[in-house]
Amino acid sequence: MVYSIDYSEQNILVTGGSNGIGLAIAQAFLNAGASVSVTGTKETADQYPCNLSAFHYHQAIMEDTASVDALIAAVGPVDVLVNNAGTFVDPPEGLLPEGFDRNMFINLNSVYRLSLGLHPRLAKRPGCIINIASMYSYFGSGSGPAYSASKTGIVGLTKSLAVAYARDGIRVNAIAPGWVRTNLTAGTQANEASSGSILKRTPLARWGEPEEMAGTILFLASSDLAGFVTGVTIPVDGGYSAM
Ligand SMILES: NC(=O)c1ccc[n+]([C@@H]2O[C@H](COP(=O)([O-])OP(=O)(O)OC[C@H]3O[C@@H](n4cnc5c(N)ncnc54)[C@H](OP(=O)(O)O)[C@@H]3O)[C@@H](O)[C@H]2O)c1
Repeated sequence: MVYSIDYSEQNILVTGGSNGIGLAIAQAFLNAGASVSVTGTKETADQYPCNLSAFHYHQAIMEDTASVDALIAAVGPVDVLVNNAGTFVDPPEGLLPEGFDRNMFINLNSVYRLSLGLHPRLAKRPGCIINIASMYSYFGSGSGPAYSASKTGIVGLTKSLAVAYARDGIRVNAIAPGWVRTNLTAGTQANEASSGSILKRTPLARWGEPEEMAGTILFLASSDLAGFVTGVTIPVDGGYSAM
């Protein structure tokens, strides 16, 4: 069998594609020939420092269910849904019940809402869903209980949707990134003690780059390469979870 990675004539939606890991994933699909839609929190694409003009841009605020529903209504056919948008609501807000709820809505509830809303369109192709978990899917975070709970939830939701949507030919998988150099981790990168202990605990002894997440996503999205893979969360973490 000859395998190829060609996403021409495929429609990809990457939530949180305005930055970091999402932008790297969106760019990789674009380079592989796809038509790619991205979302961000800003009203228009030109409000971002990076050039998003090659993508179809939609504003989507994931804690606002009306905004998620508007996104579902606005995007056309979808072959691959990458539920990447996410954040870490810092303390003290993140430790309060309202902050906990907000973080859960952004990182987990919106993933279910989008998956359900786009299910009929994904079933038509049939397409696939790829979610973004975390090392905090497996380890606790004292300062971010909702971040950890939401990312642990992503692993369970990935398995549940894989089971529920298999009959429609929709595969549902996730990746669990290790420590990746993005805006989300800027504070940790800048903190010598925190960064040092992460590097010490990572067998490959370095931070991951956003582009290094994209290869596994393209693999999971390919029905040629990963047609019998569903319900899994693959760590892409430099060995962090193995140690
Ligand atoms: N970096 C890591 O080490 C790491 C590790 C494990 C998992 N992850 C996960 O990877 C995903 C991407 O993170 P990243 O590191 O690339 O972070 P990032 O650079 O901060 O990008 C986050 C993306 O999510 C969007 N977003 C944030 N809050 C949102 C909200 N309330 N509603 C809608 N969209 C929102 C952002 O939009 P704006 O650009 O408009 O702010 C941006 O596009 C997240 O799910 C994160 O939890 C990251």
